Amino acid sequence: MTNVPVIAIDGPSGVGKGTVSAKIARALNWHFLDSGVLYRAFVWLKGQNASALQSLQEVESIANELSIEFVWDFKTESYQVNRKSKEISSLLRSEAVSQGASQLASNPWVRQALISNQRAFRKPPGLVADGRDMGTVIFPDAFCKFYLTATPAVRAMRRHKQLKEMGLNVNLTELEKSIEERDFRDMHRSVAPLKRAENAILVDTTHQSVQEVYEGMMHSITGKNL
Ligand code: DC
Repeated sequence: MTNVPVIAIDGPSGVGKGTVSAKIARALNWHFLDSGVLYRAFVWLKGQNASALQSLQEVESIANELSIEFVWDFKTESYQVNRKSKEISSLLRSEAVSQGASQLASNPWVRQALISNQRAFRKPPGLVADGRDMGTVIFPDAFCKFYLTATPAVRAMRRHKQLKEMGLNVNLTELEKSIEERDFRDMHRSVAPLKRAENAILVDTTHQSVQEVYEGMMHSITGKNL
């Protein structure tokens, strides 16, 4: 463990944690980790067939090739995902990659191999990390932890809007079904399932705008005396 401070933000898909985490990281001028991107990049690079993975060593060598960076984009006011200096953000957002990442994420070798990738983002002056197990497994000593929720219907609508903005057209009913499947899998896997850390602040984002969620969370963070 290091004494570099971490803010851990967990929750199910479509809850808005990526947007708000990026906004907090930017405001504090801290490093940013969207851990779902690592699972997505793994699928994009190697496919989702976890049974084809032969050993922890093999998985570790794939994890070492990921080389993911998050770079602030002034045009979109959000982080873009770069790999070896090439932008790959939109390649990782399809529903096929989402489902594949959720399936792959239940593989214990993959989770084990990605631990050091994720912890490597912890650099001064601090890190804002979002995912499913940031506060429970990867950064259990985070000084501030949040668990975001919202109703499944609202989450599906938000994700639909996000995909549409990226030029991906998906049926809303199918998307809701896919999100429910993914949540169920993410919450019921045996290794590092999605759950609220004991000391995580619960934030229900159903009826709040991004700005309201952001302001509420910043209030909690600054109240902790950085
Ligand atoms: O946050 P996301 O939708 O980009 O994540 C894609 C999948 O990756 C998600 O369904 C579960 C998995 N994941 C995980 O198991 N642990 C994390 N810390 C982040 C993502």
